[in-house]
Amino acid sequence: MNNKAFYLETFGCQMNVVDSERIVDLLGGIGYRQVDKPDQAGLILLNTCAVRDKAVRKAYGHLGRFKPLKDRNPELILGMGGCIAQQEGKQLLEEFPYLDLVFGTHNVHRLPELVQKVADKHVRCEETDFLDRDTRLQLFPSRTGQDAYTRFVTVMQGCDNFCSYCVVPYVRGREISRPSEEILEEIRELALQGVREVTLIGQNVNSYGLKDEAELSFAGLLKQVNAINGIERIRFTTSHPKDLSDELIDCFGSLEKLCKHLHLPIQCGSDKILRAMNRGYTRERYLEIVDCLRRVCPDIRLTTDIIVGFPGEHDEDFTETMALLEEVRFAEIYSFIYSPRKGTTAADIEDETPAEVKQARFDRMLELQQMISRQTWEADVGTIQEVLVEGESRMGEGQIFGRSTWNRIVNFTGPAELAGHIVPVKIVKSYRNSLLGELPEKRGS
Ligand code: 5AD
Ligand code: SF4
Repeated sequence: MNNKAFYLETFGCQMNVVDSERIVDLLGGIGYRQVDKPDQAGLILLNTCAVRDKAVRKAYGHLGRFKPLKDRNPELILGMGGCIAQQEGKQLLEEFPYLDLVFGTHNVHRLPELVQKVADKHVRCEETDFLDRDTRLQLFPSRTGQDAYTRFVTVMQGCDNFCSYCVVPYVRGREISRPSEEILEEIRELALQGVREVTLIGQNVNSYGLKDEAELSFAGLLKQVNAINGIERIRFTTSHPKDLSDELIDCFGSLEKLCKHLHLPIQCGSDKILRAMNRGYTRERYLEIVDCLRRVCPDIRLTTDIIVGFPGEHDEDFTETMALLEEVRFAEIYSFIYSPRKGTTAADIEDETPAEVKQARFDRMLELQQMISRQTWEADVGTIQEVLVEGESRMGEGQIFGRSTWNRIVNFTGPAELAGHIVPVKIVKSYRNSLLGELPEKRGS
């Protein structure tokens, strides 16, 4: 008899997290249950990310780790999905003789059928065809089973921007937006089931609906979500500065449920490099957006992504990025050393900068940002913040945790029944990845 336990590892972005949730549901539908140890599983799946070489190497490393399990148990099914699977396709089956199944980013819905085929017929298979627009629109992941107070809701998929360094348009396909009525229906349903916070996700949510004149704009969608009873907080990610409309900026001043945090990747502070990256905005335009955002919402916190060492980045370009970090004072940055990706246009640009120079720039940038981040987080100490409680904390007994509007984790002592409620919490200490708080004493007690 088949071992109907599966082990799933997820790499990369929220898109993959949502796809993995879907995988769990789909496999549940054919009698599989999830386990947290690979050696207990009859099916092992890796949901992979191809955005940087480090993530790719990690996925291959993990795949290699499972080979001895397969040697010991030939019945074990090993599968790889996500962006590496999409990019490499059949090649993976040739390279890894112990791999049974490869499924691409548009084929998650076919997983039950593919797993059954491998299990019953003892064949190896690969399915990485892109789907047409209409079929994709039928297949947007939606998940209304409530097991949390906060959930991701996919509003669009794919990307048409073709930033010159980025593999996403090739592995996730063209951009499509999900009909707003369907999104709103899903969120209403989630609210009825107790969800209090939704994060609208997509590769580039700001271009939501732009291809369809009859569709709402992204700001229009946010306004409708803001009106749904029961939903108390809204977040969204990821934004592209090129498509950030004035109407969307205004939402940070007018929508009371919209959290005061925006992740707005800039990638680099030099116009020359921004142009080479095909980003479609200038440093000046980015700074103008930041000004407008801070005018409508003075305590908004911004986070960003930066790529260091893009081909042709000279010291003066890097200096511009450093100056921009000092000027904007992001609460946090996610920084990466440029990683050439097969098939992207930047992969063909000659890159003269030695790896040590890139690493030195990266380290300097991290040092500067750590100082800025620390100052931002320390300013939280002594304030009272509204925290949406998510449940018991890993910090120990009696501790619960939630997030502030700025998306920082706050741990504090309190009753588990507060889960799902927004409560004021006094911040007493700031750590690198979280805050420690306490419930303020009740007045008159
Ligand atoms: N090299 C380094 N970083 C990259 N990113 C995307 N592609 C690359 C690449 N080839 C970064 C960008 C993006 C984030 C998700 O990953 O900063 O915003
Ligand atoms: Fe990649 Fe640019 Fe699209 Fe973001 S906007 S997914 S960086 S191509």
